[in-house]
Amino acid sequence: MFECVIDKLFATKNASDEVLKLLIDLDDADYLYKRALERRVAYYDHDVFTRGLIEFTNYCKNNCYYCGLRAQNHNVERYRLTPEEIYECADEGYELGYRTFVLQGGEDMYFSDDQICEIVRRLKSDHPDCAVTLSIGEREREAYQAFYDAGARRYLLRHETANDAHYVKLHPKEMSLAHRKQCLWNLKDIGFQVGSGFMVGSPFQTLDDLVADLRFLQELQPDMIGIGPFIPQADTPFGDQQAGSVKRTLNLVAILRLMFPYALIPSTTALGTLDPKGRELGILAGANVVMPNLSPTRFRKLYAIYDNKICTGDESAQCRHCLEKRVESIGFHLVVDRGDVRREAVKL
Ligand code: 5AD
Ligand code: SF4
Ligand code: FES
Repeated sequence: MFECVIDKLFATKNASDEVLKLLIDLDDADYLYKRALERRVAYYDHDVFTRGLIEFTNYCKNNCYYCGLRAQNHNVERYRLTPEEIYECADEGYELGYRTFVLQGGEDMYFSDDQICEIVRRLKSDHPDCAVTLSIGEREREAYQAFYDAGARRYLLRHETANDAHYVKLHPKEMSLAHRKQCLWNLKDIGFQVGSGFMVGSPFQTLDDLVADLRFLQELQPDMIGIGPFIPQADTPFGDQQAGSVKRTLNLVAILRLMFPYALIPSTTALGTLDPKGRELGILAGANVVMPNLSPTRFRKLYAIYDNKICTGDESAQCRHCLEKRVESIGFHLVVDRGDVRREAVKL
């Protein structure tokens, strides 16, 4: 009985709020995943793109209630990679087959705009065939422009929730959804390929909030959409809240694939943390990107956004091989490629 609403979503890339809410919590979702996978294969075949994630600082000036890196968490030992350490991570990543590097960190103003530009320029000159993605939070428009001029072309900034009333329940009053959205529009306007997204099952989230997230994404039309289940971190105000549901996350991955057929959608580490086969299931629901860690092993445990994060004891080469095996086991393959967005289907 749901087949016809799923077919309609497949055909029109849209659905009413009521239908979206039904599909988000659809119990037997095999047909939803099947149609999403069909779309995914039409645009991206059985390719899975990789991004080498360099978590270069766990300092953060913000205090998001959900995140273990929040400034007021004094139980986390803080670290910063030196520029040389960052370049070494990228060199190792290049050898392992990564052609996109994602520089991710808390909002750490120790790294000035100029310093970020210098790092971007060096990564681009060391690896001209690679893309550099930044994921360093909210900065001024002029800073974003400078990053672009230095050679960065992609920027990840999840909107977290598109509902103002929900946003204030997740963040202290110094932070605002309006500012975050303005950052996303600025990035887009400058010419970045923009990634946004949200957590699934964050405290107080309702089905209406999730529909608002999907509607905001329809407005923004991002190139990349990252979602993952909320996972509590013991030293945060949300330390004893429930984790988000893997099933709901998978349903949303499939819905996103049908609404945004072209999109780069990662199968996230958070999915892999809550379910040992979470990342494989994400790909089978329509995801087409994985983002393993390239940071030096000795720092990985310290990038503790949430508890029990996987891969914190593994070397970069181990993660690469592990993912290769996982992806092959479900009939897909990791490609050595920048992994640019594909706006059109490559096969029917
Ligand atoms: N559980 C899951 N995801 C989280 N993030 C932050 N804290 C958590 C958590 N406790 C996500 C946010 C952020 C991204 C880097 O990690 O969506 O944008
Ligand atoms: Fe900082 Fe990002 Fe964590 Fe918020 S989610 S505390 S901005 S690292
Ligand atoms: Fe890191 Fe499997 S991906 S160990």
